[in-house]
Amino acid sequence: MDAVAAASRVAALRADITRHDRLYYELDAPEVPDAEYDRLFRELQALEAEFPTLLTPDSPTRRVGGRALDGFAPVRHAVPMLSIRTETDVEASGALAFDARVRRELALTEDDPPVEYAAELKFDGLAVNLRYEHGVLVQAATRGDGETGEDVTQNVRTIREVPLRLAAVSGGSLSAAPEVLEIRGEVYMRRDQFDAFNARAIAAGERTLVNPRNAAAGSIRQLDPAIAARRPLSFFAYGLGDVRGWGVPDTHAGVLDALSAFGVPVCEHRAVCTGAGALAQFHARIADARAGLPFDIDGVVYKVNSRALQQKLGFVTREPRWAVAHKYPAQEALTTVQGIDVQVGRTGKLTPVARLAPVFVGGVTVTNATLHNEYEVRRKDVHVGDTVIVRRAGDVIPEVVSVLSDRRPATAAAFSMPVHCPVCGSDVVREEGEADHRCTGGLFCSAQRRQALLHFAGRRAMDIEGLGDKLVEQLVDGGLIRSLPDLYTLGVLKLSALARMADKSAENLVASLEKSKRTTLGRFLFALGIRHVGEATAKEVARQLGSMDRIMGASVEELAQVPDVGPVVAASIHTFFAQPHNREVVEQLRACGIAWEEGEARVISGPMVGKTVVLTGTLPTLSRDEAKEMLEAAGAKVTGSVSKKTDFVVAGTEAGTKLTKAQGLGITILDESGLLSMLATRES
Ligand code: IVH
Repeated sequence: MDAVAAASRVAALRADITRHDRLYYELDAPEVPDAEYDRLFRELQALEAEFPTLLTPDSPTRRVGGRALDGFAPVRHAVPMLSIRTETDVEASGALAFDARVRRELALTEDDPPVEYAAELKFDGLAVNLRYEHGVLVQAATRGDGETGEDVTQNVRTIREVPLRLAAVSGGSLSAAPEVLEIRGEVYMRRDQFDAFNARAIAAGERTLVNPRNAAAGSIRQLDPAIAARRPLSFFAYGLGDVRGWGVPDTHAGVLDALSAFGVPVCEHRAVCTGAGALAQFHARIADARAGLPFDIDGVVYKVNSRALQQKLGFVTREPRWAVAHKYPAQEALTTVQGIDVQVGRTGKLTPVARLAPVFVGGVTVTNATLHNEYEVRRKDVHVGDTVIVRRAGDVIPEVVSVLSDRRPATAAAFSMPVHCPVCGSDVVREEGEADHRCTGGLFCSAQRRQALLHFAGRRAMDIEGLGDKLVEQLVDGGLIRSLPDLYTLGVLKLSALARMADKSAENLVASLEKSKRTTLGRFLFALGIRHVGEATAKEVARQLGSMDRIMGASVEELAQVPDVGPVVAASIHTFFAQPHNREVVEQLRACGIAWEEGEARVISGPMVGKTVVLTGTLPTLSRDEAKEMLEAAGAKVTGSVSKKTDFVVAGTEAGTKLTKAQGLGITILDESGLLSMLATRES
């Protein structure tokens, strides 16, 4: 790059970085992940190093980001709040490089003993300075530009973990407390608190917080302390500012112990490490523990433990030579969405998945990120072609956090859910009030086959003994079973060819397959695994409709006549049998010899269907049981007491209070002949 090109690139980078600084530090609304910001920053640093004439005093590389907000009173720090140098090397080399630098600065040779360090976590929140005078919290300030921060005392006072008074140490009184003790540390939000806050925000239809770090920073910099108070924040101390009238311990670890004794929260994950190897071990140990921590960290921090040595090492520009942050790979990165695929899960749920330009994030290369469901795609407004922030934390599935909408190309395409299953072509449905779309293919859909088979073979379904999880997996993965009817074509020969399948087990399985063929309509219907059709519903539908053909041909309305079958269940059964391949599977299974005794169709229409009837008194010819049976056969429900829900009361002689009550409620009263003529009008 020549000097002219470099000058224009430097100007562009500075404008970009300044804008991101403002978004990050002042508005708490960053547009790009830290890794992207760091990349811009490093590019600028490199260009300034290569072309020193381009270096100006106002370059963002010359200052710490952030400026006091207008709304808060400025606080001039008695001791500047410094930042620390960052190592981003993966694994041990960051620790080794730091130790080597420290030893060089201290002019130590190989014969000198290893340096002792204090290692701790790098919390991901907002740095604050807490000023205690005579043990009382008098002021809290943000870092700002390092020289001047903002007075956020009101907001910090709402953090329960921050003591308003230091605890009296070893029986001492407050008068024995340090004249001035400035404690520096990080305000952060625990992940569970963050999730709970967002859940509440979603329920209330309010804006959600982007991530715990922004949540913490944004809360502390709220001009209204009542808002800060509603956001559950936490605090960890990691250092000192101005101190007067206190015998500061000799080591950093000693300082943290003393702060803890004052009742100030200090994170338990810290260690005194002798030499570079121990630092590297700490880095590795915390990397493993990271995902399980209740809060976010973005690395670890190593500090020379001895305060005397810290003083000897001093500072370069705004960074101490005695401390370094060793970061973990960023958990967020920028990439582009190349497409949105739809995956079909074992239960038929359709999940949109963003296909991404490969990007290194959270220590691995990520090419896919889940978008959960169509609602999420809309909420985040993800288009194909978009630049997005992806996040991968621990072992969790990578996620699209947000879209950089100002980078959306004109060619970007919106997403919509397919109307047919991408795996089997069956209709896709989304039920009222549900976020997920589902494939209606059921057993026909290969994505759902394993699950469908296990359900089919279940004890309360076809009861095929010996057809368990492992075997089903083998059969499906081995291509032996593509559809349920294939099950009944399995012979001993095919089966015993499978790995780990003894002849005896193969024979047993074939026998239980054979046995399963004699079943009931209810079991068979349940075995088909129709969504929302449980064992009891299947039985009832079978009892009411009597035959498979009748069920397959029933309209939603007819199905909804069956007691306990609501519109959702009725629609689900109807859609299932509207798929030609599902009907085909049923036919094939019957052709394999699956059989049951078909009953007579129950009444599904007529004046008594779904009616609640109460019998009272003695009828002239019918016994109470006969009347009940006839009513039930006509689709009525016979109950014992009269209420507003009662449709008819059938009254004989000596009818008592039930009759009076029914008359009071204006319920239709029938005598035996009225009942019989009503029953006669039923069409079945
Ligand atoms: S020490 C002179 N220790 O990281 C040393 N900083 O640039 C001053 N941070 O925004 C910092 N955890 O808020 C230190 N255990 C830790 C830290 C920590 C997080 C933040 C700090 C600042 C940045 C350092």
